[in-house]
Amino acid sequence: MDRVKLVQAVEEQLTRSRFEHTKRVIATALTLAKRFGADQEQAELAALLHDYCKCWPEERLREVIVTGDDFTQDLLQYNKELWHAPVGAHIVKQDLGVVDKEVLDAICYHTSGRPHMTLLDKVIFVADYMEPARRFPGVEEVRLLAETDLDRALLKSLDNTLLFLIQRGMTVYPLTLSARNFMVDQVHQSKPKEESL
Ligand SMILES: [Fe+2]
Ligand SMILES: [Fe+2]
Repeated sequence: MDRVKLVQAVEEQLTRSRFEHTKRVIATALTLAKRFGADQEQAELAALLHDYCKCWPEERLREVIVTGDDFTQDLLQYNKELWHAPVGAHIVKQDLGVVDKEVLDAICYHTSGRPHMTLLDKVIFVADYMEPARRFPGVEEVRLLAETDLDRALLKSLDNTLLFLIQRGMTVYPLTLSARNFMVDQVHQSKPKEESL
């Protein structure tokens, strides 16, 4: 499917405000991809499609998870805000013919994160978190970190997400905790020696 058709397909799936968010994520992802050396075409495609199923009703998302064979069913026990990401990856593969596994993974993990995130995963996760209209507490710090250090920006985004969930008494999806722990180790290992003493 060519790019114009893909954009049309995305626009049909999303509300006006969600489509505007998607456009801001594309712009932010392209900036990060250029800055940190990720593939710009993959970043643009993953950003365009990342929220493809975000506006689907809960029951429709649930049905895809229950009937699809590539989902971990434990997803259903956690916050439904997580569901659109793996469902989106599944649907853009099935309905739009997207076959690039790296792009599909970046879509799949853009809300939960995962350990061993690829450069593309990180670009999409952070772009979605810090696009210019986001107003979360702590987002300015993520924007500042993302000027120079994508890993620290990602870790701060994960920390903020976990704090938000814990402060509200909500459950934490184990994959998000694993993603955060992995990034703590990664950021710690990359510190200059004198800093880590
Ligand atoms: Fe999303
Ligand atoms: Fe998003």
